[in-house]
Amino acid sequence: MDSTPSRAQHRLDPYVDRYAARTAGMTASEIRALFAVASRPEVVSLAGGMPNISGLPLDVVSRAIGDLVSHHGPEAMQYGSGQGVPALREQITEVMRLEGIEAHPDDVVVTVGSQQAVDLVTRVFCDPGDVVICEAPSYVGALGVFKAYQCDVVHAEMDADGLVPDALRQAIAATRAAGKKIKFVYTIPNFHNPAGVTLSAARRPEILEICRREDILILEDNPYGLLGFEHEPLRALRADEAENVIYLGSFSKTFAPGFRVGWALAPHTVREKLVLAQESATLCPPQFSQMAVSAYLSSHDWQGQIKQFREMYRERRDAMVDALHDLMPASCRWNVPDGGFYVWLTLPPGVDAKAMLPRAVTARVAYVPGTAFFADGFGSSAMRLSYCYPTPERIREGVRRLAGVIEAELELRATFDSYAPAQELGPRGYDGPSSDLS
Ligand SMILES: Cc1ncc(COP(=O)(O)O)c(C=O)c1O
Repeated sequence: MDSTPSRAQHRLDPYVDRYAARTAGMTASEIRALFAVASRPEVVSLAGGMPNISGLPLDVVSRAIGDLVSHHGPEAMQYGSGQGVPALREQITEVMRLEGIEAHPDDVVVTVGSQQAVDLVTRVFCDPGDVVICEAPSYVGALGVFKAYQCDVVHAEMDADGLVPDALRQAIAATRAAGKKIKFVYTIPNFHNPAGVTLSAARRPEILEICRREDILILEDNPYGLLGFEHEPLRALRADEAENVIYLGSFSKTFAPGFRVGWALAPHTVREKLVLAQESATLCPPQFSQMAVSAYLSSHDWQGQIKQFREMYRERRDAMVDALHDLMPASCRWNVPDGGFYVWLTLPPGVDAKAMLPRAVTARVAYVPGTAFFADGFGSSAMRLSYCYPTPERIREGVRRLAGVIEAELELRATFDSYAPAQELGPRGYDGPSSDLS
């Protein structure tokens, strides 16, 4: 690709030829570009993945923070350790125990959200051109990090049971045959963002075994694991493999994203490197936020709060799948997630989610086109729908508007059918997890 800046780029940004090569991968995500329109009140946004924290007991939080300032103010407002506050790291090990993980607080590094943990792990492991294997589709924020560090992303398919072991084997073999180095497999095993699927308990040992045999690290990103609707949390991959897995967790979805507190649990030597990377990035994660989260955990029934969140999200999930069932054209397919925030919807053949988006926004509904979640341009026949934030009534109204837009699109296609080129799915013929999951 020719990276010489064009005259138009020069006109827009006089610094364009001074930036580091890695900035070429730093582009606004499709989600960010959408925020401005999707946040208008008349638009029903099924696009953003903002946690719905309206149920948080603000009086409890306010008391915990007030006490923190009164009793530990000077410490809370001081620099702290690059690894994070010891009391919070201890509490984090209790949180992880809910998913079968037995860990020592010494192996936990607190980060600025789990987003920063993805960044630090990539910084520590990846040189330009190294490969990260990701599910297809994958979390847009992680793809952004991998791009920014100039990694190559290779996608491996999922189905209703999550990452497909054979697809992972093939991705590893093909990447190695091309002479490239694989640094880790990035996976979101529970209530996947954006696909809504969960890696089945039966498959977990096989994924671990493949990576162990191939000597490839797993980066297990698990912000939604405690937000299941139907069953107790599944055992984390890290619960059964301490050496080959780096586990990432977050308080963003189970408490509040505003504190920006997440963590990495890593094998001891990797933990050392992550702390050094954290120190060079931020000196230390914010002491005040960490102590506030710690005070909340010790003064409140946080597990009861998570149960309430689960019930609230389940009601919204039900509202969305009922509305999809009642209102969507028969040729659309979607899955029914059993936790988390997202439904993955596959459009009828020939309808392009990205091309349709401006018409959807005109009809006052927003979603994220599937292409945002692929590093290689796939996903045009799919979209992510979030049910986490709007009320059930708004969700139904949003689905009604979206169904109308898709129907209009189908009518248009029927009219011009003989002129329309067949929809391209690319060599994989694949645009996301299997659509017959509902
Ligand atoms: C899969 C996944 N990983 C990481 C993050 C980052 O979360 P945070 O940095 O708020 O912990 C998100 C946020 O939506 C996510 O969906």
